[in-house]
Amino acid sequence: MKYDIKDIKLAEKGSKRILWAEKEMSVLKQIRERFLKEKPLKGKKISSCLHITAETANLAIALKGGGAEIYLCASNPLSTQDDVAASLVEHYNIPVFAIKGEDNETYYKHINAVLDIKPQITMDDGADLITTILLGRKDLLRDIIGGTEETTTGVMRLRAMAKCKALAYPVIAVNDALTKHFFDNKYGTGQSSVDGIIRATNILFAGKVVVTAGYGWCGRGFAMRAKGLGAHVIVTEIDHLKAIEATMDGFEVMPMKEAAKKGDIFITLTGSLNVIDGDHFSLMKDGAIVCNSGHFNSEINLKTLRDMSEFVKNVRDFVDEYTLKNDKTIYVLGEGRLINLAAAEGHPASVMDMSFANQALSVQYLVENCVSLENIVYVVPEKLDNEVARLKLNSMGIKIDALTEEQEEYLNSWQSGT
Ligand code: ADE
Repeated sequence: MKYDIKDIKLAEKGSKRILWAEKEMSVLKQIRERFLKEKPLKGKKISSCLHITAETANLAIALKGGGAEIYLCASNPLSTQDDVAASLVEHYNIPVFAIKGEDNETYYKHINAVLDIKPQITMDDGADLITTILLGRKDLLRDIIGGTEETTTGVMRLRAMAKCKALAYPVIAVNDALTKHFFDNKYGTGQSSVDGIIRATNILFAGKVVVTAGYGWCGRGFAMRAKGLGAHVIVTEIDHLKAIEATMDGFEVMPMKEAAKKGDIFITLTGSLNVIDGDHFSLMKDGAIVCNSGHFNSEINLKTLRDMSEFVKNVRDFVDEYTLKNDKTIYVLGEGRLINLAAAEGHPASVMDMSFANQALSVQYLVENCVSLENIVYVVPEKLDNEVARLKLNSMGIKIDALTEEQEEYLNSWQSGT
């Protein structure tokens, strides 16, 4: 079996992490048990480009249990848990091509390695796999029946592909399932980004001014958790509606040029480019901490920061100190890559449970419905989304009411008013 990981001797530690995560992934576990019996993915080859974590390992094990042959590579050069990668290879016979800290060239070499199996299904987190196929490996399109996409940024790229008719096979936007972004993006990113900043710096949030760029689902989650820790949170936005929402949620809203002067900690969660740029760095306080939790490391203009700096040195794991020519220092965490996976362990298993249950059910849906699907971006069918919610609630031991016949009739009628 071919693979490329850091060190196979890390497998025992990785195995413990996979089992620990499994305890919180009860929906995925139920799907895995059904897959083991029914084998709905029998003979299907899946190339998967996800963050290589204990939670992803549980997804891969479920898909393999369903009869698929699955190859994994990382969806970010800095998010791989090397011990988990080792355990997948050693204990589960799942080929992994991912090493934490790999350079860009190796990152793409690994993407190409998982594509060499000629997949029928692609599974992306950020759309690098499908982009690699469309830009240079179109020969693979013959075998592909469909794909899935995990994250907001990836779905944005897919919609751009679909708009210019470049999308060459159907893709299900797992991100857009309610049981994904309501929880993973909000509570997952909220907690794990705070966790990443704290693990990298051991900084106290209470009393700090925290600038959150972007008030989408991820920004909302982060702002909420930073406030909960006692920070004064400022939100920056480009969307009027989200700016009103942030204001009514109790946050101060202002342009980045004003926020730059006030912040102690900055985080970008926008999916956009150069949200923190040269003119912002020059306005920042001495000792400001800057990080990103969006998918790509494009939200902070690090090239400009480097050009503005006299020197850069690493002062702690995941903390680089930039000394500017005006003698101020700015600290950048995790090289501007997603801080929750670079310096911490990503979202907790309990939310990834729902995200990856959607992934598993979406793959089964693609296998069963591929003949009738077009080359467009699909949302996860409502029935599957609801089923994930039902199973999750059930596993949490929470019961809810059901409509009475009378209520159902009332809600489906229009005649009775005041
Ligand atoms: N994205 C964010 N957190 C993650 C995790 N724990 N595993 C996989 N992908 C993630």
